[in-house]
Amino acid sequence: MRNVCGVMLAAMIFALAVPVRGAEALSPIERLGRAIFFDTNLSRPAGQSCAACHAPEVGWTGPDSAINAAGAVMPGAISTRFGNRKPPSSAYAGESPILHVGCGCLMPNCGCSCACGDGMSDTCPPALVGGMFWDGRATGWMIGDPLAEQAMAPFLNPLEQNNPNERFVCLSVSNASYADLFREVWGPDSLDPATRDVGPIYELIALSIAAYERSPEVNPFSSRFDTFWRNAVANGLDVCAITPGNMGGGMGGGGMGGNMEAYRGLGLSDMELMGLALFNTKGNCSVCHWLTPGPGNSPPLFTDFRYHNLGVPRNPENPFYDMPRVFNPDGDEWVDLGLGGFLATIPDGIGAPGSSELVIENLGKHKTPTLRNVDKRPYAEFVKAYGHNGYFKSLMSIVHFYNTRDILPVCTDGGGIPGVDCWPPPEVPLNVNTDLLGNLGLTEPQGMAIIMFMKALTDA
Ligand code: HEC
Ligand code: HEC
Repeated sequence: MRNVCGVMLAAMIFALAVPVRGAEALSPIERLGRAIFFDTNLSRPAGQSCAACHAPEVGWTGPDSAINAAGAVMPGAISTRFGNRKPPSSAYAGESPILHVGCGCLMPNCGCSCACGDGMSDTCPPALVGGMFWDGRATGWMIGDPLAEQAMAPFLNPLEQNNPNERFVCLSVSNASYADLFREVWGPDSLDPATRDVGPIYELIALSIAAYERSPEVNPFSSRFDTFWRNAVANGLDVCAITPGNMGGGMGGGGMGGNMEAYRGLGLSDMELMGLALFNTKGNCSVCHWLTPGPGNSPPLFTDFRYHNLGVPRNPENPFYDMPRVFNPDGDEWVDLGLGGFLATIPDGIGAPGSSELVIENLGKHKTPTLRNVDKRPYAEFVKAYGHNGYFKSLMSIVHFYNTRDILPVCTDGGGIPGVDCWPPPEVPLNVNTDLLGNLGLTEPQGMAIIMFMKALTDA
């Protein structure tokens, strides 16, 4: 009884304290960033905004079901041009720190139990942490903010918004309906198109976008999981400590097992609770998709901001393979080397050591994405793609991969349906993580429970 009252009271307090703010409630800089993010005039030819590849109704990722079902790469402003990766969510990204060497804490439940900070030990070997993009190349080393640095890239990318230079983007902004808002935010002389050096203006554009991307409109923390998390905290429960107990071979037999009983009635169904408990234990998911509170004790962000090679197969339908040599010199032979590929391009001594050892141990690694809104889609049949190259087309498929990568045979021409009863080889065979995934031994109902749990991460 006491618990129930506590929960209701807590729910009421949160309803008052954390209302989901609409666009009207955004601060001036957030409103400015919003206007820029959705401005379709900031491409050449006009027509493509950031939202073309990061649409809110799809959890801030690619809004085209047919494309997701195939190559998963969105076309650029010039519609025959394609980049090489699937757009990750642009939400809940703003806490990724400047790319640096930190601790690579990789123990079960590490995200929860190992407050490794930046101190290194045997269980916390050094690893690169932070940055933006699947390969971390928006490091934050230039202007001190990886999210703003990221926003400087798509406008000038010939495969994306295709503007010829910074000046062109700044002139477009100075002609936009929100130019006055820009001056209100950054000062009366901040947007002078006659300025010889447009670099500082371009930076302000990026900082405005980053402010919007960090706003409560983009990061509402309004999923059913968030309600549950706040209720659990209000009841003095540590969500990181949830366990399913001895699960044996399946989930039958009734009873909750482990300590799950204590977490009941806080906003998740029994099935979702079971999924959370497995996510946190047998599935190893929370080792990388952290359940630890975010900054300021906000609910978890479901990422460690670190890089791993899961052994994801290449996506043969990636349209980048067919791009002209000027964009893709390697043609069909192109391999996505992830973080290691980026590190190979930086000279020794800038920011992170570009030593070949560091390059080699990061080949094939991609940044852990948040799982927030991972199932958000405009309608039930809408296909979302998962992984850096969109190889997986459903949560079922990627969980099946985590569970069976190392026990199903490697696909051959003769037999097996790739992704169902065999798996193609990894795109990059180096550095594949075999400790935490590949043979989890999850039963079908357990896999389903984890999927149900991930569906509870969709914002209201
Ligand atoms: C043509 C599609 C396209 C457009 C337009 C586009 N993006 Fe992206 N975005 C992507 C892709 C693809 C990636 C991943 C690229 C990579 O990792 O190499 C990405 C990555 C990101 C990320 C990194 C998220 C993370 O966790 O690392 C953010 C943030 C982002 N985009 C915001 C923006 C903003 C802001 C704009 C407009 C200025 C924009 N995008 C325009 C496709 C697009
Ligand atoms: C070793 C760290 C690690 C573990 C363990 C892990 N993940 Fe991931 N997860 C990642 C990384 C890294 C990616 C991106 C990989 C890529 O694209 O190459 C990813 C991608 C995903 C995606 C796709 C998200 C998107 O937006 O494309 C889902 C869904 C997911 N993981 C769920 C899970 C679940 C469920 C578990 C547990 C069964 C799990 N992960 C365990 C690191 C991990």
